[in-house]
Amino acid sequence: MTDTATTTGPELPQRTRTVPSQIASAVLRIDPADVVQKILDGEMLLAALEVFTDLEIADHLAQGPLPLSELAERCQAEAAALERILRTLIPEGFIRRASTDGRYHLAAVGQTLRKDAPRSMRPAVLTRGIPLWREAARTLTATVRTGRPAITTKHGTPYAYLAERPERQQVFQEFMTARSTAMGEALAEEDLSEVRQVVDVGGGRGTILAALLEQHPHCTGVLLERETVTEQARAFLTERDVSDRCEIVAGDFFTGVPDGGDLYLLASILHNWPDEQAHAILVNVRAAMKATSGSHLWCVDWLLPDSDMADPGLAADIKMLSLFPGGRERTLSAYTELLNGAGFTISATVPLSAGPSLVMAEPAQQ
Ligand SMILES: C[S@@+](CC[C@H](N)C(=O)[O-])C[C@H]1O[C@@H](n2cnc3c(N)ncnc32)[C@H](O)[C@@H]1O
Repeated sequence: MTDTATTTGPELPQRTRTVPSQIASAVLRIDPADVVQKILDGEMLLAALEVFTDLEIADHLAQGPLPLSELAERCQAEAAALERILRTLIPEGFIRRASTDGRYHLAAVGQTLRKDAPRSMRPAVLTRGIPLWREAARTLTATVRTGRPAITTKHGTPYAYLAERPERQQVFQEFMTARSTAMGEALAEEDLSEVRQVVDVGGGRGTILAALLEQHPHCTGVLLERETVTEQARAFLTERDVSDRCEIVAGDFFTGVPDGGDLYLLASILHNWPDEQAHAILVNVRAAMKATSGSHLWCVDWLLPDSDMADPGLAADIKMLSLFPGGRERTLSAYTELLNGAGFTISATVPLSAGPSLVMAEPAQQ
């Protein structure tokens, strides 16, 4: 069997040649080398996405279409180079070029990178650009050799790194807000009629807590966070108009967790830590619950499948591996073992449309 690779063009002769790997692809319907090439090409696509974000192209086009020269001027870019970036992103749905006058219009994917987009992806791209995050990806081989993030030797853990760099902390927390907004909305749909106080442990700026308090006006909240995040949290909760029902506590969930809550929230917390430290956080939550009968725990994290099927949580798992010593996404079995070991039993799991799952747990009967 032969396969053909053909180059056509008005002034070029046609050439035909046999490409062995394409013979395989005819059988497998996919050329294995193409899989590798696609991943390699993805790096340039990612770089183009960063240019699109850094030059704020989505915001420049938000008010209406622009010709290349005008867009290049507003972005302070060289027009021909910019055109090549734009050309690459047209098939990805970021922008389109009008066939009539050649002006660039913002398309659906590009819209998500506007600063004012409701769940803007801009903070996610900017967080990826934080030097520590970049270095974590670049040094993954060294991490895999030792099992411990290579970055920690030089920079310590990501939260210690962010604590010393307020601007990067701001970017990271904006990313958390953008990422957790949909989760907050989904959690707010649950029945909280029996809940009076929600304690959000490691709550970031309080994105999820604000959604719960907005939807359930009879509830009050307590946000426990590192001291370097509380100022941002205060501003955020004030902007969301729930600060009068919310206490912000600067603290460390390894030292203790505020008591008196009917509902404790650990959203995207346990996946940052190895089992031993995740256990310590859960034990502190369990101890805080002792003061209130009937209180329960909600955890939000990816639940990896037990099988080898593809899952978006796998990318999150590699991110945890590269950044956090012992950080990992867990399967439901691993999550169950972790919670049982700290005195909880899982009562339900709810897949959230945002990707991760809600794991509902109760203190185990003594
Ligand atoms: C991945 S973010 C999740 C934020 C929030 N729960 C959400 O889902 O949007 C983890 C948060 O844990 C906080 N954190 C890390 N170590 C902490 C500690 N020892 N005590 C309290 N908070 C901590 C970080 O500052 C960060 O905001």
